[in-house]
Amino acid sequence: MLQRVLDYSHELLEGSVLSGETVVDGTAGNGHDTLFLSKLVGQNGRVLSFDIQEQAIENTNDLLVQNHVENVTLIQDSHADLPWYIPEGVEEIGGAIFNLGYLPGSDKSIVTEPQSTVDAVKHLLTRMKKNGLIVLVVYHGHEGGAEERDEVLKYVSKLDQKQYRVLRYGFINQANNPPFILAIENK
Ligand SMILES: C[S@@+](CC[C@H](N)C(=O)[O-])C[C@H]1O[C@@H](n2cnc3c(N)ncnc32)[C@H](O)[C@@H]1O
Repeated sequence: MLQRVLDYSHELLEGSVLSGETVVDGTAGNGHDTLFLSKLVGQNGRVLSFDIQEQAIENTNDLLVQNHVENVTLIQDSHADLPWYIPEGVEEIGGAIFNLGYLPGSDKSIVTEPQSTVDAVKHLLTRMKKNGLIVLVVYHGHEGGAEERDEVLKYVSKLDQKQYRVLRYGFINQANNPPFILAIENK
């Protein structure tokens, strides 16, 4: 009955992203969210997919090639630099997802950082369409994860409620710091 966190992160975007829109995957990793977004926006849409790690960009590219996907721009740079990569003529972003933490099966010392995560969210909020969502899946069990979780929570909980709605979704009776979702809706 209750949706798992990753499934629910996708359901939120399925309900808000439209075909033809430009959307953002802030943490490409192994490419699963990028592939999901590419299907949502379709041939006339575009996914801007960021990761700082070469390995993640390669893994994501492999997955996209296997699936004959051609509507993704892969960007090996920090999501904090996102404004530089929004194509000219794109006024609004239809939605965004971030999976915080480290690349599964890889170097656990390369993790998302509080400042760049918050900066990326701030940039996105200036470009989100009305009723668009920024969905963050917050993993916080690794080293540095608690600090990032607290910084992000501090930032999003202070967003003006007249302009944004902020949801937290997660299970509270699971062991080992289960991940949770933060979703920000631009009202
Ligand atoms: C939990 S993984 C993402 C998993 C991915 N969503 C998937 O479907 O496989 C987090 C990723 O964030 C990347 N990352 C860390 N800091 C980043 C930054 N500042 N900008 C973009 N990506 C970053 C890491 O390299 C890692 O691949």
